Amino acid sequence: MTTEPPVGIHDLTFSTTTLVLTHDELARHTGANPAKYRHGIGQTSISIPTPDEDIVTMAAGAGAPIIERHGKDRIRTLLFATETGIDQSKAAGIYVHQLLGLNRNVRVVELKQACYGATAALQLACALVRTDPTQQVLVLAGDIARYDLDSPGEATQGAAAAAILIAAHPNIAVINAPSGLYTRDVMDFWRPNYRTTPLVNGKKSVDTYLEALTATWHDHETRGGLPLEKLRAICYHQPFTRMAYKAHHHLLKTTGTTPTLHAIEGAVAATTTYNETIGNSYTASLYLALAALLDHDTTLGAETIGLFSYGSGSVAEFLTATIQPGYPTALRTQAHQHAIATRTRITYDTYRQLHTAQLPTDGQKHQIPHQTHGPYRLAGIDAHQRHYEASSPRSLASNSAPSPTPPPNRECHESGGHLLRRDP
Ligand code: HMG
Repeated sequence: MTTEPPVGIHDLTFSTTTLVLTHDELARHTGANPAKYRHGIGQTSISIPTPDEDIVTMAAGAGAPIIERHGKDRIRTLLFATETGIDQSKAAGIYVHQLLGLNRNVRVVELKQACYGATAALQLACALVRTDPTQQVLVLAGDIARYDLDSPGEATQGAAAAAILIAAHPNIAVINAPSGLYTRDVMDFWRPNYRTTPLVNGKKSVDTYLEALTATWHDHETRGGLPLEKLRAICYHQPFTRMAYKAHHHLLKTTGTTPTLHAIEGAVAATTTYNETIGNSYTASLYLALAALLDHDTTLGAETIGLFSYGSGSVAEFLTATIQPGYPTALRTQAHQHAIATRTRITYDTYRQLHTAQLPTDGQKHQIPHQTHGPYRLAGIDAHQRHYEASSPRSLASNSAPSPTPPPNRECHESGGHLLRRDP
């Protein structure tokens, strides 16, 4: 009889955008009390893409250091979860496959179910590796969360991409069975094909998130999952970081435990560090919470943690992962902090111009000025085809900070105009 090897997260990293809008700057112009943003929703800033950044450039930027460290020869599948698709037919992962120079003998697929898509990709990846433990799967999850200007959702925007390498005998965490699952047809947040921003019923979405948490927890429990007291911390999907606090308060009550601030902070505080400054990154958000926990909780040992994945519409999953001894050597803490600290601060006016700017749809040849600090960029569009390129000589080995180092959080007061150049 053969025993199945443990399968799970072998490497995990993320990338974000070049620009950042602080909530203090937003509050100065919306008239909101900055305390509402800081304490009410738990956000300090929002990552904003330059016109030459999108889900492909962010995902390639996140995937590159993983390929550099582990090589590409064992990767047989690339799964890209996103709800910011750039094409109705072609998978965004094919562009990433090309940019990262992956082998031709690889399957590439895009997955969608709102913010839940990355967890579906992770579970599919684990199942593939269990069928052949010599192969690895690269899971990418990237989104740009954009809401209408002047809407309640505006303060919960953001952008990032996570890259996760799934392998047998993983360095970071083994993904366990059972999971708790839940699906219910509900209109809390959705984006019809003809819209660039979602329609959202904010209050309802918070309620359906909590309802899905209860349901997945009960399913997890019924199937023999670990009790709450055995879980060292919980990473929640974070559309805004106060949601993690609300969720854990709710879960403690669901399980008949008194929800003290101490218990809630102990379970979730370390998981919010990246999302509070990056904002919602939809599919990537839960995995940024996991990266934050691993990078910041220095007391975390080889213990089991919970992960709650929620995607509006809605599908949810409660799963657990067991952290592996020696995981700190696999972390990329310095690169994560560098990506956040070196974003360029923009003014509210620049933010509004960027928000309303759109890529041309006329089929003509357009070049996009080089603005990203990232390693890949959208160079232009020609005949309705996107053209990407490697954009800087910076090393792909991003476990150490790239150099030269731009000054942290540089101010940028330039106009966001002239975003695109059309060739004569
Ligand atoms: P809102 O109307 O801007 O805010 O909507 P609010 O009035 O409800 O205030 C928010 C909190 O700030 C409240 O706390 C206030 O009391 C507090 P709560 O009652 O909730 O505990 N507050 C203050 N606190 C301190 N000092 C002050 C102050 N003033 C007020 N001065 C909402 C907020 C999140 C609804 C809105 O931003 C929104 O619609 N966001 C988008 C939807 C969303 O994020 N939903 C979350 C669940 S759905 C989900 O996670 C899926 C998603 O990621 C999409 C996907 O799956 O693809 C969104």
